[in-house]
Amino acid sequence: MRICISPKPVMWVVLMVVVGASGAWAQEVSAPTGATSPMALIMRWLHVLPAIMAVGGAIFMRFVLMPAAAGALDDESHGKLRAAVIKRWRLIVHPSILLFLISGFYNYMAVTRHQHPDNGLYHALFGVKFILALVVFFFAIALTSSKGWSEGFRSKAATWLGLLVALAVAVVLIAGYMKVMPT
Ligand code: HEM
Repeated sequence: MRICISPKPVMWVVLMVVVGASGAWAQEVSAPTGATSPMALIMRWLHVLPAIMAVGGAIFMRFVLMPAAAGALDDESHGKLRAAVIKRWRLIVHPSILLFLISGFYNYMAVTRHQHPDNGLYHALFGVKFILALVVFFFAIALTSSKGWSEGFRSKAATWLGLLVALAVAVVLIAGYMKVMPT
């Protein structure tokens, strides 16, 4: 028996969670002056949403889609699927990188660095997070490119995507720690 989950209730639940969470964030996200800043909230959304989409998508691809396709498809079909997935996945990955950079710098320069003026560890962690994120971006671009320079990465996609996932998870864990550091 097939169980069908209608997308409508799921979308409502997601919408309610987003709206509910945004209320909490709006109270919490504050400009250096202490006033709630709508821009800071928008930038935070533009950081968290790509994190969910890009990191979640990479985990799905590495641990679900790749092994399933390798087991179920012949070489020709597998090659076609890989090319089609890369083409579409690129449309998520490239804008996500742009959003991470814009919202991340805004977040740091306009909000969080003012909340941690004398905390060297906070700023060091920001540096480590930033460098790890750049490495993640490099692998993400290499694995979604169709150019020759990155063929070596794509031919060992399971390895490099696994490393990308590990580094991206480290970035999220560091971000979580930065978030709970005393202001
Ligand atoms: C792989 C890429 C990245 C991932 C997965 C990622 C993920 C995250 C997550 C999950 C948070 C917590 C958000 C929240 O609770 O509101 C966060 C916070 C943050 N991220 Fe990123 N990020 C990435 C790249 C970047 C980049 C490139 C920058 C800087 C240009 C950056 C700067 C920040 C800052 C400043 C915070 C706030 C930390 C705090 O709450 O004190 N991130 N990031």
